[in-house]
This record gives sequence, C-alpha cells and structure tokens, in this order.
Amino acid sequence: MPFNNRKLSINHREGTPQLSKANRRFTMSDPSVNETNSKIHRQFRNAHEGHKSHAGLDPTRASTGVVWCTERAYEHGFDVEPELGANLGQGAPEVDDDIEGSFERPSNIHISMTGREYGPAAGIKSLRAAVANMYNAHHREGKESQYTWENVCIVPGGRAGLIRIAAVLNNAYLGFFIPDYTAYNEMLSLFKNIARGTSVILTSNPRNPTGRVVKNPQLAEIQDICRDRATLVMDEFYGGYNYTSDCSGTTVSAADNIDDVYADDVLLIDGLTKRFRLPGWRIAWIVGPKEFIKAIGSCGSYLDGGANVPFQETAIPMLEPEKVRKEMVALQSHFRDKRDYVVGRLREMGFNINTIPDSTFYLWLDLEGLPDELSDGLNFFQACLEEKVIIVPGIFFDLNPSKRRDLFDSPCHHFVRFSYGPKIGTLKLGLDGIQRVVDNFKLGAHLEQAVEYI
Ligand SMILES: Cc1ncc(COP(=O)(O)O)c(C=O)c1O
Repeated sequence: MPFNNRKLSINHREGTPQLSKANRRFTMSDPSVNETNSKIHRQFRNAHEGHKSHAGLDPTRASTGVVWCTERAYEHGFDVEPELGANLGQGAPEVDDDIEGSFERPSNIHISMTGREYGPAAGIKSLRAAVANMYNAHHREGKESQYTWENVCIVPGGRAGLIRIAAVLNNAYLGFFIPDYTAYNEMLSLFKNIARGTSVILTSNPRNPTGRVVKNPQLAEIQDICRDRATLVMDEFYGGYNYTSDCSGTTVSAADNIDDVYADDVLLIDGLTKRFRLPGWRIAWIVGPKEFIKAIGSCGSYLDGGANVPFQETAIPMLEPEKVRKEMVALQSHFRDKRDYVVGRLREMGFNINTIPDSTFYLWLDLEGLPDELSDGLNFFQACLEEKVIIVPGIFFDLNPSKRRDLFDSPCHHFVRFSYGPKIGTLKLGLDGIQRVVDNFKLGAHLEQAVEYI
C-alpha cells in the first residue's frame, strides 16, 4: 500500500513519531531553539499531533487545554497534595458562603416525586419562566417585546448548551474570534456542518480569556449590523462579573438591545455555573427566538436527555430579579478587590499590564518582556508547575478547529491565562509561586553574569 501523503515518519528505534518539516503545515519557520530544547513543547506537540495507535480513535478530540494542563499538574503531584499548590488554571469561581452580601447556597435539596421522573428535555416550565422573568426585569424594562418561557431552554451546563446549538445549525458558515473559550475549538470541529464565514457568529462576551467586555454602544452596533443578516450566539457566562458600572450589580447582556424577542436571531447562553458560583449543579439556559428554542429543546432528547429535575426546581427562587441584583453587587465588589490585588502584585514583579481587565475573573498575561526562557506560555506554565502553580498557556485559546495553522505560529503563544476565580488564600499562594519563578530567573541571570566576570 502506498503512503505517499503521510505526514508523520515513524522513528522505528524509539517507536515515537518524528516531526518532519512537512508536518509543520503552513508554518513560516523552523521551531525555535527555545522550542526544540523544551521538554514541555515536545510533550505538547506529541500529544496533539503524534502517532494515533488505535484505529478510529482521535484522542485530541477528547481533551481540552484545561484537561491537558491538569494532566501535567498531576505529573507534578498536584493530585496527592492539592492544598500545597494553587490551581489558577481552571475557570472556576470560589464556591463557599463567605462572600459578604452573597446569599447562602442550599446545602440540601428536596426531591419531589416529579424529581424522580424524566424531565422535559427543554427544562421544567417553571424554571424557564423564572429565567424569562429575570431577563425581562434586568434587560427589558419598559420594552414592548418581552421574553416568555417559550424563549428559554434549560440545559445541563454551558457546554451541553453550546453543543445543542451547534447540533441545530444548518450548513452554517460560522465566524469566531481569537482568543476565545477553549471548548469552542473541540465543539467546532465535532460538527461537520460548521464552516468558517459569517452566517453565525459565536463569541463569549464578557470575554474568556482576555477579561474584557464589549458593551453598549458598541454591542448595540454589532447587533444592528447582524440583524436580519446573521445569527449571533452570545456566550454570556461572565455577564455578572462586570466591573464597568462601579459594582452596581448591572449585568452585561445583548438582551438589552433586542428589538423583537421572537424575531431577532440572538441566542444568549448563561447559567448557574459562574455568576451563581455553582459549577457542580450543571444548570444553564439558552434564551432566544421561539423556533430556535424549540429545536434546541428537542435535540436534547437525543444528545443529553436534559438537566436534572431536582436542581432545576431548587434553582427557581434563586432567580428572583431583586435577589439576583443584590447577589451581583456582592459578587462584583468581591471579585474586583481580588482583581486589584492580583494586578498589583504582578505589576510589582515587573509584568506589563497596560489595561486592567474590566470583567470576568481572568487576566490575559503578556509574557513578552520576560527573559527568553520564560517568555512563551508553555515554558512559563512549566516553570510555574515546578512552583506548584497552575496557569493555562495562551495557545489553548487560539481557536484553530481546522488545524490549518501550526500551533507554534500562534498569536497567543506569548500569553497565559491567569484565573482569579479561587479564594484569596489560593491567589496569594499562587502569586508567591510566580514571584519565585521570576526571582529564580533573576538569580540565574546574576550568577551567569558573575561567572562571565570570573
Ligand atoms: C465562556 C464560557 N462559556 C461556557 C462555559 C461552560 O460552562 P459549564 O461549566 O456550565 O459547561 C465556560 C466555562 O469555563 C466558559 O468559560
């Protein structure tokens, strides 16, 4: 059998794939010395482009950047003594009840008879109505067109919601931005009916990983341009983490600018995961035009079976609009304080943070000013791991679903994402670790200089 077009040559002595230049498709240059000398780079490249030993299995489809980072962290003993390290990689908010002004989360839940049954794939009607009511109170006051329960579908978490949206799109051309949420990468490549272009636009806003938000009037302008031309999928999971309105509890949402809730092709997705600090509950929602919601609800019957009923029932009173507003005030002031602490310490260490992020709980940290050995995301990630700190290399947020661009030509290569979601004690621990990384390199440089003088 001829193998004319194969991209990998196998190194028979070691049984590991060797990278041929041809395999670095569309790249402009050879790997840098920095990359070739770096174990973490080789490990990454092998995991993502290496030999596939099981017929029919593409393991790259099963792993996101965050999973890969966690696996590397386990190799450094994180699973044995997690309390000694700081996980600033996972995009999870702190979940305790000790944030001032925040309501206490239920510690047990009642399970009704209906809670034992299969629930509707689109979610229970009372929760759908509670979500619609919250959006109307926060974003549609005084407007003629109001959301109803028929505009809302409950889904088992944000990612399940995104997958459902992808499942109902026709042969759509989809536009996206980089950097953006890592899971979009895998999601986009799962669906063969999605190509690149602009009949559907998918974006997180506020934005993961950059920690910036597009708000009115620019947001309204974008929606005006898209009206009757393209469907906007707005991932608003961080809408509550908004520091642009002096922590008044205002949530950023495209719902503010919708003319007709039945006609404007805007799908909003949010849930309890981030702004209600309940990632384990797996309760999220999609809000949009009735026909879209009907399709998204129905496809749950073959994709995931729907969100669990007891937690849906428990979520209803949490969405009372006044309660949510108070909760957002508490959330915003608490997380803004953490942001200021983190930015202050990183600046003291010499990191260049020109613009302070105005939303989410992420910092998109530019490493370009650091010594060469530390100035890319993978090497910095590795150095942090040795100090028991996890952060995520920026490369994972470079959406590249068709794998047309070599990952090391990525515009995100010199960045890492730092999450200030965890509690302040963990942030301090993590920043102390990063301080050690920076100090070790300064010390190393001094020693090298001293040796040169001798
Ligand atoms: C932008 C964005 N959307 C959606 C999600 C997914 O949320 P869930 O954990 O509910 O699947 C995340 C989680 O990190 C996210 O960052």
